Amino acid sequence: MMNFDFTGKAALVTGGASGIGLATARDLVAYGAQVMVADFNDYGADLADEIGAKFIKTDVASEADIQASVNKTIDTFGRLDFVVACAGIRGQQQNIAEITEENWTRVNDIDYNGVFLTNKYAIMAMREQGQGGSIVNLSSLFGLIGLSTNIAYSAAKGGLINMTRAAGTHYFNEGIRVNAVCPGVIETSHISLFDKASYYMLQPEHQVGTVNDVVNAIVFLLSDNARFISGTSLSVDGGYTAL
Ligand code: NAI
Repeated sequence: MMNFDFTGKAALVTGGASGIGLATARDLVAYGAQVMVADFNDYGADLADEIGAKFIKTDVASEADIQASVNKTIDTFGRLDFVVACAGIRGQQQNIAEITEENWTRVNDIDYNGVFLTNKYAIMAMREQGQGGSIVNLSSLFGLIGLSTNIAYSAAKGGLINMTRAAGTHYFNEGIRVNAVCPGVIETSHISLFDKASYYMLQPEHQVGTVNDVVNAIVFLLSDNARFISGTSLSVDGGYTAL
């Protein structure tokens, strides 16, 4: 029987003020977890309050901010069991010949380095706690296939998949699992109407996914139902990358 009772568990969700992160935080609270939302948008404080979570203003590109968000989760709830690294930006749509170093660095600071820092400090805290833990990183279908018109995003999301493999194998014997999800086109503020229309035509069933499709995969991977799954990247893309 699948069990999603997270009573007594504490979670940190980066990028939890919007889209997939907000919905994940909402569902984790509904399943009984205590949740800290970490986001650089101040309006996240009210949204966290509305769903029964706590909030810390965090820029995941800042090592000090990540350390503070991990510490605040432990100070507030007494523990850290789950981490969902959702914070991400798309940056400017540019191919490799056009991209500025500024755009490349900005996207990679958040989408790649930010996830690295989140995993690093979460794993350090979980190891100290000695009771295992579960981490889910948000990659993308564009981490599995190249998106030539957004080279920085594609590179960052691809890097996350291998980071997840390496981290997920190394700490498995300590009960710490690290997995990723690779959403396809999901209807959130993250995608423009133009993207939606063009990707819609590429999806096998001409459908875009919902936030709940992704959240269900994240919750499963966090839970003990996935106790033997680590280092994997689960596609939630309606079959897009299977074609
Ligand atoms: P969203 O734009 O709705 O939410 C992203 C959140 O991250 C926002 O609350 C934003 O304030 C926060 N954020 C951005 N930069 C930050 C930083 N430096 N520090 C802290 N917080 C920061 O996006 P959505 O759609 O919910 O995406 C969530 C994740 O899923 C992202 O990593 C995205 O790349 C990934 N993804 C989304 C897809 C989609 O179609 N929506 C498809 C594939 C992947």
